[in-house]
Amino acid sequence: MKELERLDKVISTQTSYSRKDIKRMVRAGDVLLNGKTCKSSDIKINPEKDTITVMGEEIGYKKYVYYMMNKPKGVLSASNDKNVTTVVDILPEHMKRKNLFPAGRLDKDTTGLLIITDDGDFAHRMLSPNKKVYKHYVATLDKALTKEVKEEFESGIVFGDGTVCQKAYFDKISDNVALVKICEGKFHQVKKMFSHCGYTVLELKRIQIGELRLDEGLSLSQSREMTKEEMCSVFDSKMTKM
Ligand code: URA
Repeated sequence: MKELERLDKVISTQTSYSRKDIKRMVRAGDVLLNGKTCKSSDIKINPEKDTITVMGEEIGYKKYVYYMMNKPKGVLSASNDKNVTTVVDILPEHMKRKNLFPAGRLDKDTTGLLIITDDGDFAHRMLSPNKKVYKHYVATLDKALTKEVKEEFESGIVFGDGTVCQKAYFDKISDNVALVKICEGKFHQVKKMFSHCGYTVLELKRIQIGELRLDEGLSLSQSREMTKEEMCSVFDSKMTKM
């Protein structure tokens, strides 16, 4: 059975209210537990059974949430930052809650599929290179691609500093556009791999993680909650061994 938890802790993890806000709202009679006005913010409740209403809105308890975002350019893949707008900042208010973070970073100028969650184990599993969860990127380059680039990507690039990249999948989509699939997340990895081959990446978009595809119905900056099937599809793999 789920352990009992403090009311203020439950509300604070499910919303963006601080404990201080919650105390104040309880005092003002704005928090109901199973329909009755709550007298104290530190009472123990069963978050899976009890119904909490804050300021007239019922709080549906979820242990973790998993959001899919179509990340735009110009926002930072981080939870918060003093100077720059982050991907968590641009979530709609009703989706915000404590402890959200992007599972894996996209550069500020990279667009596309980003998962935002508060489930650390999920993120760890998705990002670990050993789990072979491939991330699919469409890269637009500054010049026409040659077949040598494909060979380099597929045999495993080694950067000048000795860093070894695992073998990557590479498909030429048009003269200067490629689909690249990698299961690691080294800093600026795709850009550095192309740079190693003498190319500059002009545009980079992530379109898929595992078997989870970016919902093309999401315009840039939009997010939505993922379904359970979508969550699991991150760990499905139709990739053949390289
Ligand atoms: N590789 C990059 O170079 N940038 C990204 O944002 C993601 C992968």
